[in-house]
Amino acid sequence: MPSQDVIRIAHISDLHCGSRYHIPSLATRVIDELNELGPEIVVVTGDLTDMGFRQEFKQAHRLLERLECQERMVLLGNHDARNVGDEHFAEYFGARSKELLHGCVRLVGIDSSEPDLDSGRVGRNRYRWIEERFSEPDEFKVLAMHHHLVPVPGTGRERNIVFDAGDMLRVLAGCGTDVVLCGHKHVPNVWRLEDMLIVNAGTACSHRLRGRVRPCYNIIEVIGGSRVRVLLKEPYVDPEVVADFHEVHRRYCKWRPDSEPDTMEETGYEPARSSAKETAS
Ligand SMILES: [Fe+2]
Repeated sequence: MPSQDVIRIAHISDLHCGSRYHIPSLATRVIDELNELGPEIVVVTGDLTDMGFRQEFKQAHRLLERLECQERMVLLGNHDARNVGDEHFAEYFGARSKELLHGCVRLVGIDSSEPDLDSGRVGRNRYRWIEERFSEPDEFKVLAMHHHLVPVPGTGRERNIVFDAGDMLRVLAGCGTDVVLCGHKHVPNVWRLEDMLIVNAGTACSHRLRGRVRPCYNIIEVIGGSRVRVLLKEPYVDPEVVADFHEVHRRYCKWRPDSEPDTMEETGYEPARSSAKETAS
């Protein structure tokens, strides 16, 4: 990854339009701040609405269409999947799973929701698709989804990780994922697991809060592929650097489309081999 350019990903989540806890003035403020910052990519990790109703999606769409950014990815959350809200989501925001490539950053967004359930899963039928998307060793790989991939402190009783979190972690670590972006329980957090950063966003503009957490969002700076900074941003407040990793090791991509796919299908996982491709970070 030769470029030393900075690619900024604004990560907002859990707008909850239509809820009595949604704060319209704060939502407008967040959009204004993002337009002033001018990130290359904006990711919204779900819960655009509170009950999945059409008028709530309409409100969320009106808000998000004001974003002035080069790339935008909007994903579905468990609240959006209520009341067959996925039909409205498709109308306003397109596919439930999607990807984009911006410079060296490949962003893959997946729908981790299930109809009318608060719990989530990725599903093993999508592992191969994710591995294929992340098969280029020189790209900076970011996966986004609504539910938690690992437990997050300060969220109460743990019941928020996707059902297949263990398998999903293996898939993502195996294909050299750099960053995972999640939303869901409105508590910001950063874990480093293997060589991945797992970044959670709070709620950007609602009072659906836990403990002393305040409405907030994240800015992720990808700096030349060897450094990642995560900044926590509360509306009206200066951003705070909450994580700064200088060496993101992406030494291998364990699975390639042309490398013995039968093995992959038999085992579901191809173990590291001495011939695995190594990439300098
Ligand atoms: Fe939420």
